Amino acid sequence: MKINIPSKYKKIWERAEPLLKKCRPGDLIHAKQTAELVYNFIKTHKKGDMDILIPVAIFHDIGHAAILPEHFEKISGLKKLPNSKLVHMLTGAKIAKEILTKIKYPKSKTKEIIEIISIHDMEEPKWFDTKNKKIFRDLDHLDRFSKKRFKTILNLTNWTPKQLIEYLKKKEIPFFFNREIKEIAEEMLKEREKEYKLLS
Ligand SMILES: [Fe+2]
Ligand SMILES: [Fe+2]
Repeated sequence: MKINIPSKYKKIWERAEPLLKKCRPGDLIHAKQTAELVYNFIKTHKKGDMDILIPVAIFHDIGHAAILPEHFEKISGLKKLPNSKLVHMLTGAKIAKEILTKIKYPKSKTKEIIEIISIHDMEEPKWFDTKNKKIFRDLDHLDRFSKKRFKTILNLTNWTPKQLIEYLKKKEIPFFFNREIKEIAEEMLKEREKEYKLLS
């Protein structure tokens, strides 16, 4: 899969791609899109460290590659439990550390990369205590406002589009750390409202 990131990070992508293909359907494309989103965001807003956040984007869900099919439903979708979510975060951090060590990635960057991967899906804001953690959390959450993911969530939940929009407004929008990213989410939400003809 072609990825539009600076060539210095391509070595990481090449090593991660075969494992991402073993993850859940959608994890490979989500890793690619999040890495490109991080790249474009940092280029535009000059906020955050690309050397940290591009590897994080590539690796963040890679832990799913090591999870057995029979454990899948405990860790994904509506039945996912906080404790089992931990498994993919910690396994992912371990896989990332092994690959980054192998390619001799700067140690100073590797430390925060694995730290972010190991907490990226935590619910409580207190875990996101650095600028890079806050940026990654926000960019990762944009996915759920996208046309494709919105539809997937509707199929999984049996919610009406109106209910899902209300949920995103109440449970997602207020919790963005970065104003710029929150504004992108609000724009995306308006597009979803238009699509489902819910604009008053
Ligand atoms: Fe995750
Ligand atoms: Fe993600």
